[in-house]
Amino acid sequence: MIARVSGIYDEPELYELACAYRNVPAEVDALQRWCDRHAGGGADRSGPAGAPRGGVRSVLELAAGPAEHSLEFARRGLDATALDRSRAMCARARGKAGRAGLELAVVEADMRDFRIDRGFDLAITMLNSLCHLLTLDDLLAHLGALAAHLGPGALYVVELAHPADYLGVAPRTSSEWTTETDGARIEVRWGGPGDPIDPVSQVTREHVSVTVRPAVGDVRTVTDVVPNRFWTATEITAAVRLEGSFSVLASYGDFDDTTPVGDPRAWRMILILRRDRP
Ligand SMILES: C[S@@+](CC[C@H](N)C(=O)[O-])C[C@H]1O[C@@H](n2cnc3c(N)ncnc32)[C@H](O)[C@@H]1O
Repeated sequence: MIARVSGIYDEPELYELACAYRNVPAEVDALQRWCDRHAGGGADRSGPAGAPRGGVRSVLELAAGPAEHSLEFARRGLDATALDRSRAMCARARGKAGRAGLELAVVEADMRDFRIDRGFDLAITMLNSLCHLLTLDDLLAHLGALAAHLGPGALYVVELAHPADYLGVAPRTSSEWTTETDGARIEVRWGGPGDPIDPVSQVTREHVSVTVRPAVGDVRTVTDVVPNRFWTATEITAAVRLEGSFSVLASYGDFDDTTPVGDPRAWRMILILRRDRP
């Protein structure tokens, strides 16, 4: 039997399977190295084993989905909070934390307008989730809401799709892939050449389909159409300057230290922002 459902963010388990190609611990290793390098004043602050990396003790993950990165930070002893506007994703994040015996605060809220009664040393938005901010006003509201939760010198690391995916001769990432896990095969389509970018709004309507074929049991397919704003590097930099709370400190083209964002091998656009003194 084939079960068909609609709404990829209402199906956190299928979403997680679709994104299982990532090496989350390796990505968190990179985030911690960047904290050593850029947090506070910028001098490398890697300390003795066990010391907080770059002095960073607390992390807020925005548009966190199932919160895989904040869970990994919690596993490493940081005080972690995950924020998402999807009730299903928040429930999934809480459930995963509970099953793993990890402390994770979960906040159901919109990243454009939220108030958490505390501050953080680090904020992250992973896997191009800023694409859900469709307009300049959305992006400015988001930066303003986040700035209220970060002290001077705190970092905001934003992982975006590489602009070559939209503007290059050939995309750097594939819009179709498969993963295998626990004997199941997962077939994913996420956007791609069939989903043109509106040339004025820079918004695509990405057609998403995730099919899970277990070794035994029913095949499940979830389909969705997800609006996605394509942001250029210069637009983000201009928005950051216009909003006024952050500076762009550095950029990377991969979760390593050797691929600049301008390198032909770069496949992500990762920006390191620093919260400036108000
Ligand atoms: C592509 S998923 C990424 C999840 C996670 N960042 C990851 O790396 O797996 C995008 C997430 O953004 C959330 N989202 C979209 N718009 C949002 C908003 N305005 N405020 C908070 N979360 C939002 C969705 O509910 C979804 O969980």
